[in-house]
Amino acid sequence: MRVRGIISLLFLISVLLEFNVVYSYTRPPPRKNIFTPLSDDDDASSPQQVRVSQVGKDRMRISWFTIYPTPATVQYGLTPSANSFNATGVIDSYHYMFYYSGPVHNVIVGPLKPNTVYYYRMGDCTKVYNFKTPPSHFPIKFAVVGDLGQTEYTKTTLQHISDPGYDMLLLAGDLSYADTIQEQWESFGRLIEPLASQRPWMVTTGDHDIEKITFFHRRSFTAYNTRWLMPFNESGSNSNQYYSFEVAGVHIIMLGSYTDFDSNSNQYKWLQGDLNKVDRKNTPWLVVMFHAPWYNSNTLHQGEYASVEMKAILEDMLYKARVDIVISAHIHAYERFTRVYKEKANKCGPVYITIGDGGNRDDFNPYFMDPPPDISFFRERSFGHGTLEVTNATHALWTWIRNHDDKPVTTESLWLTSLSSDSACNGN
Ligand SMILES: *[C@@H]1O[C@H](CO)[C@@H](O)[C@H](O)[C@H]1NC(C)=O
Ligand SMILES: *[C@@H]1O[C@H](CO)[C@@H](O)[C@H](O)[C@H]1NC(C)=O
Ligand SMILES: *[C@@H]1O[C@H](CO)[C@@H](O)[C@H](O)[C@H]1NC(C)=O
Ligand SMILES: [Fe+2]
Repeated sequence: MRVRGIISLLFLISVLLEFNVVYSYTRPPPRKNIFTPLSDDDDASSPQQVRVSQVGKDRMRISWFTIYPTPATVQYGLTPSANSFNATGVIDSYHYMFYYSGPVHNVIVGPLKPNTVYYYRMGDCTKVYNFKTPPSHFPIKFAVVGDLGQTEYTKTTLQHISDPGYDMLLLAGDLSYADTIQEQWESFGRLIEPLASQRPWMVTTGDHDIEKITFFHRRSFTAYNTRWLMPFNESGSNSNQYYSFEVAGVHIIMLGSYTDFDSNSNQYKWLQGDLNKVDRKNTPWLVVMFHAPWYNSNTLHQGEYASVEMKAILEDMLYKARVDIVISAHIHAYERFTRVYKEKANKCGPVYITIGDGGNRDDFNPYFMDPPPDISFFRERSFGHGTLEVTNATHALWTWIRNHDDKPVTTESLWLTSLSSDSACNGN
């Protein structure tokens, strides 16, 4: 009798476990970095790792590498002949321990019309590429991703981003997971080129992008700064680690979690000045991105300086500016908080989102705090990416799409309203 009781109890437990398996998705183990080689059609003078980023209101920077030196010139136009305009830019390069990079070319083109396809070709190469400029008014669709890396999961996440289409990609740090192996930065550039050469990619730094090694390489962000020049000068910043830009009624601020942010720092002063310049009539939406999350209910990465100290110093400034959304990464999972200020739900605070789940090779931490804090509304330890579709001055649709065994599954979707149109929050 006792034995039968124990057996049926075990049976009951196994049924309950089965239920868990059926109703919640369990992320498979991570996959290794892949290497994306130069294509067979390309040689040492061919542009590779081609990408574009927005510069100012109506210009784009085209960036590419070659193995041999080639001119930093671009021909572009509205037709596939790409020959209506010429632009000339600059060549840079870097070295890192025993690695010497090929020339990196940066050429700014424009002024350009909004929401328009441009054709372009680089140097003396005849191959024609194209990009679409972002719209100048709502609606606009952002793809949002973090801790991207370069694995087979990264590949399918990129496909889930590119298939439905988007206007601009925002990356919240930790790009290539090269982790000092510089050839992996090249490989990453080639992996993302089909997307990044067609839509602007705007990025900020993560811990894996620092690549400083005691005694051997004393500078931080050497590869990142040369390979991923962002429009910092155009936003009055003196560092590639923090900048802002405006697109279609959205003011976006990119900060550096691993760059000085104390009240005497350049970043702090620049942020203060940039927030003062925001005009919510022109840009009703205000979004801030940085790598290490201020709110996080995973047991991993609790108490890190870049999270705890940065929050202590900057949270007031973002709250008073009525920032709508704060997007971070670093935790290899998805988590969405309600509007928060100083640990408590607050209808005038930003919505905090962690999106460190792009698909990199690192493992994840399976432990979430239990029970969840009451400000955490959704969390899942899977791969995936987000989209932010800003419909108009007041409404935006946030969606999280899980990478479900390499297939896209929409898992959370909610409407956000801008604080700029919330009269209860504007009187501060
Ligand atoms: C652009 O430069 C190319 C190569 O130097 C030249 O052949 C062409 O006429 C120029 N086009 C324009 C529009 O200036
Ligand atoms: C930096 O920005 C200033 C002010 O907008 C401009 O005058 C200067 O030419 C820019 N420098 C570079 C290198 O783009
Ligand atoms: C803004 O978009 C939302 C969602 O589509 C819609 O309900 C609302 O009426 C729109 N507002 C205006 C002023 O068009
Ligand atoms: Fe990270």
